[in-house]
Amino acid sequence: MFPNIDFTTTQAYKYLADHYITVNEKSLKELFSEDAQRFKKFSIQLEDMLFDFSKNRITDETFALLMQLANECKLKEAITAMFAGEKINVTEGRPVLHTALRNQSNDPVLVDGEDVMPKVRAVLDHMKAFTHRIISGEWKGFTGKAITDVVNIGIGGSDLGPVMVTEALKAYKTRLNLHFVSNVDGTHIAETLKGLDPETTLFLIASKTFTTQETMANAQSAKNWFLGAGAMEADVAKHFVALSTNAEGVSAFGIDTQNMFEFWDWVGGRYSLWSAIGLSISLGIGYDNFEALLQGADSADKHFRDTELERNIPVVMALLGVWYNNFFDAESHAILPYDQYLHRFAAYFQQGDMESNGKYIDRNGNRVDYQTGPIIWGEPGTNGQHAFYQLIHQGTKLIPCDFIAPAVSLNPLGDHHQLLLSNFFAQTEALMNGKSEEEVVAELKKSGKSEQEIDVIKNFKVFEGNRPTNSFLLKKITPYTLGTLIALYEHKIFVQGVIWNIYSFDQWGVELGKQLANKILPELVSEEQVDTHDSSTNGLINQYKNWR
Ligand code: F6P
Repeated sequence: MFPNIDFTTTQAYKYLADHYITVNEKSLKELFSEDAQRFKKFSIQLEDMLFDFSKNRITDETFALLMQLANECKLKEAITAMFAGEKINVTEGRPVLHTALRNQSNDPVLVDGEDVMPKVRAVLDHMKAFTHRIISGEWKGFTGKAITDVVNIGIGGSDLGPVMVTEALKAYKTRLNLHFVSNVDGTHIAETLKGLDPETTLFLIASKTFTTQETMANAQSAKNWFLGAGAMEADVAKHFVALSTNAEGVSAFGIDTQNMFEFWDWVGGRYSLWSAIGLSISLGIGYDNFEALLQGADSADKHFRDTELERNIPVVMALLGVWYNNFFDAESHAILPYDQYLHRFAAYFQQGDMESNGKYIDRNGNRVDYQTGPIIWGEPGTNGQHAFYQLIHQGTKLIPCDFIAPAVSLNPLGDHHQLLLSNFFAQTEALMNGKSEEEVVAELKKSGKSEQEIDVIKNFKVFEGNRPTNSFLLKKITPYTLGTLIALYEHKIFVQGVIWNIYSFDQWGVELGKQLANKILPELVSEEQVDTHDSSTNGLINQYKNWR
């Protein structure tokens, strides 16, 4: 049974609320000087990945209480329920089984009594054979030429994961050039198609539902572009494939269902890069690398399912997040990869986390009276350092940060990687220790400033420090380690949903805007002035009509 517990009614929550008052007075600097074992105690290694969470505002007691909180919220039961295929996505009546997509064991995974693994493997085989035919050039376009460019048309979960992963693993690129079109703004597809040759371009129409307005509009424009270049309707089969759960929608669009790569409603859109939605990844980095990505994720799944809570990386990540979100009132969480290849990692988890845990209704259908999902944001270091780190260091908001870096660069160039990593280490140290008034004064004295000058300037130069960070140090970015890292973050989101007692796998909050856009669309087509909305919306629509 999936638990349904208001975490604010637990003993652990009450203890944590009291305990927070003591911890809030402690500095991280003190915590480190009091305990020589702190790094050893508060870090976990999983294969080629080190997760250091020692620079967090926690003591042994905090850690024990957070674990008690997880136990009182019956986290272990929740984990078992997810892996067992219980219908934990209650509002949509579905299991949540993206873990089955990367399951490397021979264990069956049951949905309504049926083992889904044979179907999962059949689609993987299809993807493997297709990838081989495209990359080898055996698959020919309508004029007999091999495919050179692949355009993935999809949005949200049917876009962000493939974009993020293919960018992250660009070093493993095949001969194919990948392009991604998501925005319904015609500029996106128009700019993408410029310079592409219809004879050598393959379109992947990626949509779980195959009804998403943006994707359908872009797919139709791609088809028009293709047919406008002298191709016939029968040639569509050589240049358009579908990644979807909706066979009817796919054939209505004119794509042969032979060219459809299937997945299932128990795969959430934002957890679907491991499914047929990952075909662009397989084409972009090769099937073997795609498989290694799945293997890496499977390793994280096993770690999550089988490891005691205290040594379980996603559990620790999640509970630390709860600690800051619900006791320190932190509003956001920054993801800061010190790796240019990971430049879309934070953007990817904006959807992953915010669409999952951006909910104010609990599992009983009641409004919560506590904070749920944080705002997720971030950019790669060191660019972020020269943009928004000022606020992280000296702003009035507490922003817990995740720092992520590989020890080995895929582009060893002079001393670039050492420069990069010196910044990574320096930032987490600076955020933790800050710079005291004494240090500032001593530094200013040394530079020859007068007492008076020092008095005027010193406060601006003091850093309070005590800003919490997690550090992920990976040996190297490979398909395998990336798969592990992504899956760890996915499970963190799951754990937080359990603690906050919300449903993490639906997304009703995106529906209202879609409905209203559908209502407004015919009003934009007509020439009539509009007066059916509030005065602001009417005013904007009518001004648009005057100017267009
Ligand atoms: O934004 C809402 C959403 O339903 C996401 O959850 C999903 O990833 C995206 O739209 C795209 O949906 P589809 O794959 O069905 O086109």
